[in-house]
Amino acid sequence: MQDAIIAIDFGTSNSAAAMLDGGRIRRIPIEDGAETLPTAVFFPIRKGGMKIGAAAAEALIDGEEGRYMRALKSVLGTSLVHEERLIGGKRRTVASIVTEFLIELKSRAEAATGHRFTRVLSGRPVHFHTRNPDRDAQAEADLRGCYLAAGFTDVDFLVEPEAAALASHGLADAGLGLIVDIGGGTSDFSVFRSGADGVDILANHGIRLGGTDFDHAVSMAHAMPALGHGGTLKREMGTGLLPVPNAVYSDLATWARIPFLYVPETRRMAQDMAKLATDRTAMKRLVTVLDEELGHELAFAVERGKIAANGGDGGMIGMGFIEPGLKRPVTPETLDAALMSYRADLLDAARETLAMAGVTPDRIGSVVLVGGSSLMGLVSSAATELCPTAALKRSDAFTAVVDGLALGTARLAQPA
Ligand SMILES: Nc1ncnc2c1ncn2[C@@H]1O[C@H](COP(=O)(O)OP(=O)(O)OP(=O)(O)O)[C@@H](O)[C@H]1O
Ligand SMILES: [Mg+2]
Repeated sequence: MQDAIIAIDFGTSNSAAAMLDGGRIRRIPIEDGAETLPTAVFFPIRKGGMKIGAAAAEALIDGEEGRYMRALKSVLGTSLVHEERLIGGKRRTVASIVTEFLIELKSRAEAATGHRFTRVLSGRPVHFHTRNPDRDAQAEADLRGCYLAAGFTDVDFLVEPEAAALASHGLADAGLGLIVDIGGGTSDFSVFRSGADGVDILANHGIRLGGTDFDHAVSMAHAMPALGHGGTLKREMGTGLLPVPNAVYSDLATWARIPFLYVPETRRMAQDMAKLATDRTAMKRLVTVLDEELGHELAFAVERGKIAANGGDGGMIGMGFIEPGLKRPVTPETLDAALMSYRADLLDAARETLAMAGVTPDRIGSVVLVGGSSLMGLVSSAATELCPTAALKRSDAFTAVVDGLALGTARLAQPA
C-alpha cells in the first residue's frame, strides 16, 4: 500500500494540515484545540527548543527572552532566505527556520494520525511575487527545499485558489464561479466551472498583496506617526529641518522584517534621531520599541485595530506597552483611506483573472470568498462591484484551501 499523502497549507499567517481518509477530508489537529496553527516561531535564548504556533505568540506576550518570527513565507524567493543571522542565540537562515517549522508540523501530524508522511501536497500562491517569474520560481524552489530538508521525499504543489475551488464544489452554484482567496501574504483568484462531476479550472491568477500589507498600511497611517514617522529633524550643523527617514518605520510595520531591526546600528540611529527630532517625545518611543523589542506587540496591536475597525464601529491601536495610556484610533473612514489603493489592485487582479478565462463578469454565478482577509469589508465590496449579479458565498475562511489540497491528493494517488 502507498503511504498516505499529507496536504499542507503553509500560509503566511496560518498553516493547516489534512489528508484523505476513506475518500473523506480529515483535518489533522496540529495545534491543541484548533484547526489551524499560526505560522510563527519562537526561539528561546536561554533554555528549551523552538516553539511554534500559539505557544510562540504566548512566549512573546509573556515577555520570555528570545526571538519571535512571523510571515516567514513572504521571505521565500528573496535573498534574505539564505542569509545567516544570529537568531535565538544561534546562526540560522530563514530556510532553516521554515524547515524546523515543517519538521515539527510533520511530527505532530504523524503523532495525531499514526501515519508516516513522506509525500506532501503543498499549497502555493499563484504568484509568490507579482510579475517576477524568476523570484516566483525561486520561492517555490526554496519551499520545496525546506520540505525535502524536513524529511519529505515527494513534494507536489497545487495553487491555493484551485484547492479552494475544489473544496467549494457543492457550495458554489452549478456554472461559472470565481474564487477570491485573500490571506496574509497573497491574493489569489480562480475562475472555475462547477458541474455534477466536479470542478474545472479556467484560469488562475494572483498578486502579492494580503493582510500583512493591510497591517503595514494601517500601521504607517495610524501607529507610526506616534513614533515620529512623518516628522522632522534639526540639522546637526546649519539651519533648517530634514524629513525623518522612512525606512525604519516601513520595516517596523512589516511583520517579516521586524526581527532584523534589533541590531546595534538601527538602535543607534534611532537614538541619534531622538536627539535631533522636532518631536522628541515621539522619537523616544521609537527608541523604546527598538531597545525593548516591542515591534511584534505593536504589529499585533495594529492587526487588532484593523480587525476591530473593519467590524464597523472603529478600533483602537493600544500602545500602552510603549508608554502608559498611548493609543491611536482607527475609524472605518481612516481604514478605507489607508487601504483604498489596495482595493483598486484587488479589483484589477480579479478583472484580469476573468479576462484570462475569457469570461465576462455577468457570467459569474458565484463569488466564493476564502482566506482571513476576505473578511475585510473592502473585499466583499470589491467583489460585488465586479460581479453585481453573482451570489456572494463564504467558504470556511481558514480551512477551505487545506480541504481542497486534501481532495487534490486523490489525483496524485492515481497510478500514472
Ligand atoms: N476578522 C478578520 N477581519 C479581517 N481580517 C482578518 C480577520 N481575521 C483574520 N484576518 C486577517 O487574515 C490574515 C490571515 O488570513 P489567512 O490565515 O487566510 O492567511 P494565510 O493563508 O496564512 O496567508 P496566505 O494564503 O496569503 O499565505 C491576517 O492578515 C489577518 O490579519
Ligand atoms: Mg491562505
